[in-house]
Parts: sequence; C-alpha cells; structure tokens
Amino acid sequence: MAELLIGFIDVVSPMVAEVLSEETPPGMRLELLVQNTAQARLDLARRADVLLAWAGPIHGGEIEASPRLLLVQKTGQGVDNVDLEAATRRGVPVCNGGGANAATVAEFTILLMLALARRLRTLESEVRNGGWPNFAYRDISFDLMGKTVGIVGLGNIGKNVARRLRGWECEVLYYDIVRPSPEQEAALGVTFVPLDTLLRQVDVLTLHVSLNPSTYHLIGARELALLRPGAVLVNASRGPVVDEPALIAALERGKLAGAALDVVEQEPIDLDNPLLRMPNVVLTPHAAAGTRDCVRRMVRSAMANIARVAAGEPPRNVQNGVEGPVPRATPRPG
Ligand code: GLV
Repeated sequence: MAELLIGFIDVVSPMVAEVLSEETPPGMRLELLVQNTAQARLDLARRADVLLAWAGPIHGGEIEASPRLLLVQKTGQGVDNVDLEAATRRGVPVCNGGGANAATVAEFTILLMLALARRLRTLESEVRNGGWPNFAYRDISFDLMGKTVGIVGLGNIGKNVARRLRGWECEVLYYDIVRPSPEQEAALGVTFVPLDTLLRQVDVLTLHVSLNPSTYHLIGARELALLRPGAVLVNASRGPVVDEPALIAALERGKLAGAALDVVEQEPIDLDNPLLRMPNVVLTPHAAAGTRDCVRRMVRSAMANIARVAAGEPPRNVQNGVEGPVPRATPRPG
C-alpha cells in the first residue's frame, strides 16, 4: 500500500518541524511546505492525503484541489481560518487538537491576569529605564484573592483556567451556551450566570470561546459598558471576539483599568494600533500555547488522530460534523 502523505500546509520554526517529523506515524510521510506561496500550497494539497496546519489557514481552493483528502487536521484549537464549508461539501472531517494545548493556554492566561493585577509590564520597564517605582503603582495594583473572575467559554481551555484558579481564593463565574453537569461545575468551582450578569459582576474578564459567527464581536461597546469601572480584560482566544475600537475607547475613557491581549483583530498587530501605546495594556504575539511541552503534546495529539483515520477509525475532535473518514476514491499513482 502506498504510504500516506501528510501535507503540512503551514510554516513553522525548525524546532516545530523537527517535532513534526519525529512524531510522524510509521508508514506515513510528512512533507513540509517549503515556501508559503499559493502555488506551493496547491501543489502540496493536490498530493496530500491529510492536510495538517498549525495556526495558519487552510483555504477552500486547497481542499477542493486535494482529490485524496481524508482529513483536515489542526494542531491547535481554532478552526476559524479553515474553510469548513468546503471540507463539509467534500465530506472531509476537520479536527482540532482537542485539549492538547489547554493547560498551556490556561497557564498563560493566569500569567496575563497577574501581569495586569500587578502592573508587571510597567514596573519591569521602569526599572530597566533607571527607575525604582517601589510605591508608585500600589493604588492601582490588586490581589486576585477576593476578586470575581468571569470565564466566558467553558471549553477545554476555560475549564483549565477554572482549575488553576482553585486555591487563588477568588470567586469564579462562567458563561457558556453549553453547561456541564452540576457535579462538574462544583468540581471546577464555577457558577453559571448569564453573560450580562457576569459582565456586571466581574473584576477580571477572561475570554475562551472559539471564533465563529456567533462569537464575532461578542464583547462590544454594550458589553464593555456593563463592566464595573476598574475591571480588566484578558483575551487569549481570538482577536475578533472583541470589538477592538470599542475596547480602545473603553481603555481611553478609563472604564477598563487594563487589558492583556494575546490576540488582536489584525495579526501581526498593525504598528499604528493605539493599543501599542497604552501603558495599561499587555500585548503578546498569539503565543499562549507557546511552550516546547505544548508543541510536543499538540503534535502527538494531531498525529494520533491522523493514525486513527488512516486505520479507518472515526476521528476525534471533529469541528464540522463530518464524523467519518471519506472512502478512498483514487489510488495514488506509484
Ligand atoms: C491557538 O491559537 C489555537 O487555536 O489553539
């Protein structure tokens, strides 16, 4: 039987490429995109049995050009930049990495909350610039202990955030369209409230929803207006979940005390973006899942799913409702 070709249709660092090649299941071949051009992507798609991507997109044209396609697999969580309709039309499952990066993103989320609460960015940069602002920011710094944290989106990542907040002595509210059982809620230490109630009560708002038409600008001017003065926002989900001009206006008005954003509406961030000039904003480059441990876990989980489909088993973590692998149409030449 011809070996199955995994077309990695994304561009990553040499370290990630090495892990991808180390974790490629036996009997399969991995081909990396050498150049991220439309032509090179189509050429790879035409030959691949599986299209695998890290964070980058998988376009409809690539899915349509891929006659042998069994599976579209992402290593991470978000499939917002995969043409789900094109894959569904072809009967090809689109899968994400399940919870493979959830703990790592949750750790980073806690880091962002603490960075905001303790003005880490300002203290650190002032020391580097010759200052010693020992007392300067105490009036605007706060403990997490005793505060109310609101998690919007209680999926794999949201649950991991909740678990990590256990022991921090804060109250944790959540909102999601799907609710876990009362036993699970109790084990996580979270209380469900409608979104508007959550917004009115939280000191720290953290977003963990996936981006889809129902979550686009979920947090806009109306929602930001419901927050208590002095609340802070953490976003390590997707930039467009927040209406960025509305967020900038809320920060400028002092309605929000700060924001920590691992994601923005346009990535990489536009150098004219006013967020870059705001001292109460912490910005990181969509790197919440960025540890070597997480790279290995994400790649292993993606490769395990590919091996499952290659063995004729149903894939896990399907995001477009197509549960089965497509039957082979054409034998690969050679
Ligand atoms: C990261 O952004 C992911 O989608 O997992």
